[in-house]
Amino acid sequence: MNNPIHRRSFFKKSGALLSAFSIDSLFNQVHADEWNDISIQFKNWSAKELAKNEDYWAVIQQGYSASSSPVVILNNGGVSPSPIVVQQAVARFNELSNQGPSYYMWRILDQGRENLRDALANLAGSDAEEIAINRNATEALVTIIYGLDLKQGDEVIGSTQDYPNMMQAWKQRAQREGIVYKQLTFNFPIENDEEIVDAYRSAITPKTKIMHLTHVINWNGQIMPVKKIARMAHEYGLEVIIDGAHSYGLLDFKIPDLEGDYFGTSLHKYLSAPIGSGMLWVKKDKISKIWPLTCAGDPLSNDIRKFENLGTRSFPIEQGIGEALNFHNAIGTKRKEERIRYLKNYWAERTMQIPGIKIHTSFKSEYSCALAGVSLEGKTPGELSDVLMQQFKIHTTSISLENIQCVRVSPHVYTKISDLDRLVDALGKISKS
Ligand SMILES: Cc1ncc(COP(=O)(O)O)c(C=O)c1O
Repeated sequence: MNNPIHRRSFFKKSGALLSAFSIDSLFNQVHADEWNDISIQFKNWSAKELAKNEDYWAVIQQGYSASSSPVVILNNGGVSPSPIVVQQAVARFNELSNQGPSYYMWRILDQGRENLRDALANLAGSDAEEIAINRNATEALVTIIYGLDLKQGDEVIGSTQDYPNMMQAWKQRAQREGIVYKQLTFNFPIENDEEIVDAYRSAITPKTKIMHLTHVINWNGQIMPVKKIARMAHEYGLEVIIDGAHSYGLLDFKIPDLEGDYFGTSLHKYLSAPIGSGMLWVKKDKISKIWPLTCAGDPLSNDIRKFENLGTRSFPIEQGIGEALNFHNAIGTKRKEERIRYLKNYWAERTMQIPGIKIHTSFKSEYSCALAGVSLEGKTPGELSDVLMQQFKIHTTSISLENIQCVRVSPHVYTKISDLDRLVDALGKISKS
């Protein structure tokens, strides 16, 4: 890199990378021909039909280094690997940044942010002026939880099955300012929207101001009827926060159609963006009332960028999101959703036949997609996930909540059928041992 000619050509290439959405993107350089071929070949296939076609998905699997991991990785709900092109983009942006961070990062890479905002908004089906880019779902949602004006006695309704970071943030507000944080508890799986909507409705009092919802419950994969709950909550004049950590980049929906007021997500889960990337959506007319978590010249401005004043952070990670979007868009959300649901059903249906096995997740498509929980009589979730790892080299995560005790399994587009066969086989062997 010290050779000036070499450096110039690297810069030229990196310059091309800055426009990750153009024909020059790394994704196009690496995958365009092959993906063009498969997209022509499978052009008329419905997402459901294509979900079962291993020829198509084999091409996608090759885009991920994780597909050749010796350990079968089945905790993509926790955090997902990035495709190779995304890793390469981050590495190149990092190399570029380290040639002179204050110039390349702050003057060059920084210019990619507005393109990125547009592309994220395009996938979200929203106005780009409603999208802030940050580091994870926790940061996005805590920005809203701490940024809302609430006074002593004001009530917030959530559930004990929301994500711990968000529950802790609400509890901190309760402890510090005297707001009242009420939590419902559900016995999942539930295949009845009205039962869920009614539970939220029955907790509302004249003091309730906020409804905190989780789109996909991370413990067992239950998809919640957030739109119906949000609509009902608005009838009572409440505002609605949606935790979409497990839905953006997986389920085929548009954020504004959920009818919430605020939506936070990680991008390093099903979108497969670089690890440490997230996004906040705030309905346009609500932006001005939210105080930023860090700081802003005008904290009550209606410019969404006031939430991006995060100090020095990784621009390579942020700009790598662009290549993840290219990869995602080349598949298409509906196809991805149907494939991952097919993978979940594939292992869960076969596993259900094993004596002593229980599946803790609905099989109905409106109530589940990637994540499902499994348990085996006589073993705690911790014991089961330990045996899967130690004896079969299958990585999952164990869930031990008051009323959800299971091992959570979450495949991704790079997961091979042979990996899931290995899981089913392992569970069969463990059940007999
Ligand atoms: C439902 C839900 N919300 C929020 C988060 C937090 O995500 P992050 O750690 O990326 O902030 C998670 C993480 O798994 C989650 O499952």
